[in-house]
Amino acid sequence: MINDIMKSEWIKSRRDYGEVCPVFRKTFSCGKNVIKAKLQITAMGVYEACLNGKRIGDFFLAPGWTEYDKRHQYQTYDVTECIKNENVLYVTVGKGWYRGMLIEWRDQNIWGGVSAIIAALNIEYDDGTIQNVFTDNTWQTSESQIRMSEIYDGETYDASFIPSNWEPASILHAAKSSLIPQEGEIVCEHGQIPVKAVIRTPNGETVFDFGQNMAGYVCFSVNARKGDIIEYSHGEILDKDGNLYTKNLRSAKQHIKYICCDGEQNYRPHFTFMGFRYIRMERMPAGMSASDFMAVPVYSDMRRTGYYICSNDKVNRLYENVIWGQKSNFIDIPTDCPQRDERLGWTGDAQVFIKTAAYNFDVKKFFKKWLHDLAAAQKDDGAVPQVIPSVLPNNTSLPCAAWGDAAVICPWQIYVTYGDKSVLEEQLNSMESWINYILSHTTEEYLWCGANQLGDWLALDAVGGSSEENMRGASNEDLVASAYFAYSVSIIIKARGVLGLSTVYYQNLYDNILAAFRKKFKEYKTQTECVLALAFDLATSKKETAEKLVRLIKDNDNKLSTGFVGTTYLLSALSDNGYTELAYSLLLEEDYPSWLFSVNMGATTIWEHWDGMKKDGSMWSDKMNSFNHYAYGSVAAWMYETILGIKADESKPGFENVILHPRPDRRLKWAEGSFETKYGTIKSRWQYEDGYIRYEFTVPNEAVIITGNNSYKVSKGTYVFCE
Ligand code: BGC
Repeated sequence: MINDIMKSEWIKSRRDYGEVCPVFRKTFSCGKNVIKAKLQITAMGVYEACLNGKRIGDFFLAPGWTEYDKRHQYQTYDVTECIKNENVLYVTVGKGWYRGMLIEWRDQNIWGGVSAIIAALNIEYDDGTIQNVFTDNTWQTSESQIRMSEIYDGETYDASFIPSNWEPASILHAAKSSLIPQEGEIVCEHGQIPVKAVIRTPNGETVFDFGQNMAGYVCFSVNARKGDIIEYSHGEILDKDGNLYTKNLRSAKQHIKYICCDGEQNYRPHFTFMGFRYIRMERMPAGMSASDFMAVPVYSDMRRTGYYICSNDKVNRLYENVIWGQKSNFIDIPTDCPQRDERLGWTGDAQVFIKTAAYNFDVKKFFKKWLHDLAAAQKDDGAVPQVIPSVLPNNTSLPCAAWGDAAVICPWQIYVTYGDKSVLEEQLNSMESWINYILSHTTEEYLWCGANQLGDWLALDAVGGSSEENMRGASNEDLVASAYFAYSVSIIIKARGVLGLSTVYYQNLYDNILAAFRKKFKEYKTQTECVLALAFDLATSKKETAEKLVRLIKDNDNKLSTGFVGTTYLLSALSDNGYTELAYSLLLEEDYPSWLFSVNMGATTIWEHWDGMKKDGSMWSDKMNSFNHYAYGSVAAWMYETILGIKADESKPGFENVILHPRPDRRLKWAEGSFETKYGTIKSRWQYEDGYIRYEFTVPNEAVIITGNNSYKVSKGTYVFCE
């Protein structure tokens, strides 16, 4: 079927409306009986369409965020039910990521300088005839009620403004070759959360607390008079005095201003989202109260697949924080954070979190789309930009290890979790060109040396500790980069094997890398160096490396000191090498630095820094301090894999074969959870009873169950073991 949208033209307003969002209008008649009506549409910017007063679809921030110049999604909606004899179609367009302000230095118009739409409405009548409504210069445009809307800054909406001065739209001669059908999940609303507390802060402000940090917006209903104003700003946290802390937003304003019309009215923002738990009420008409406001979490429409709960409430809160970290940062692309002037698709963050993400929710479609963008953004030499979609200038976005390796690790994880080869077929070229990039940019053969790296980002072992001056940790950057190089090549060997391709070249390359690695990096000096050598199977002696890791942890007051890179594999490096008890100790540690420290400090999402807020309530530097960064949430994968023992078997991906190998620890009395695979739901539960452990498992197909020293091969069913 030819896509009708390709027959249409891009259209724009004749005049630039500045900050005001344009609205496009088309009226048309349908004299006959409609069997089916279908609208294909997209925008340069973000759009909302409305046919005869009814919003079309519930995709928030459509058409989503992609490498627009190469891949620009359009959406197809069934609008049969909305068609009447006389019709009016409105499409309002915000700047969005396409041309709004992005990055801390607030670049604008990254993909283009005009807001435009392209659409085709295809109406089928019962007499077999077809009517098409294409975007062309018979459409009209006007200023809309949305007076300003920016991803970072919020929205100004004037409900008393009535669009008038309609003028003919003009054709924008722009390429259509980048148009592609919707690939990802849509972003939409997920429930509503009422105000939990109204706080009068020490500095005299009124703050509404929704009790949960999230990404989304606040909606409200009001009965008002024309010209009444409602204004509020969003923030994630209260400072030590109890005042709303917004300095960590940097330049992002996260501010809503709504000007009322007469009577009953409802509002929710259109083209912006906020990272927040609190709003500071700056203006509202008399008679309005906290009960008129609701927080609305907004995120990609992923199906929940994983659950975890245990006897320790703090660990449960940590797990919930991971879930909220994912909800808040899976807004069409995997972002680092949802609040400050960043919210970008940082590859390293996505890479360290993907395994956890794929347990929690079905993220296959979500990541396949993003990986297509990653491949599209890759340079000819294989360089992977640090953020995807690629909005950073080349000189600030030099490829680096663990970030660029997302090109290889993410497709492999999607394959292992979902058992779908197509992701490997689609990405193999991108995966291999990343390896070529390293090969052609290293200063030492078979290693990755001499590049400017991000190291073990935010690790605590840097000289001077956790500070703005050194955010890359103490691990040897060449070692980290070479370890990832080896790991990525090892994945490519497996991926080629799955696809039935020769592995000779990569096997040879891998052998050389391993030899060079072992020759150059004889000693592991940091926790992360040991962790990588263990997790990626690079250590000459696993036993000695594990012992060294244990010693480094002991010498550090039994605490972790790892950053984004090491933390991901820290607990599994311990539990897979005979130190499960120590892994549990790190998980259950409550003093700084630890996961539960943030829980004790009241966190409802995962923090960017182990010490985002210190014990005395003071903050890490305002310059980079997100309280909703999922990276350290990668620990949830260990809860699924080691506490519950639900682990994928790479040789039978997609959980075709289930390996259930829980490793209980007495400090938890019980733990239980589940994971939904395409074969059915896997359930695991264990509980300490008087003198024995009772295990209960449900498996949807073939499984190997390992409890203590026993191993059982079973088929579909529910099993109870007492040992
Ligand atoms: C982001 C991180 C990211 C890092 C790398 C930060 O500003 O928030 O999560 O990975 O930069 O430089």
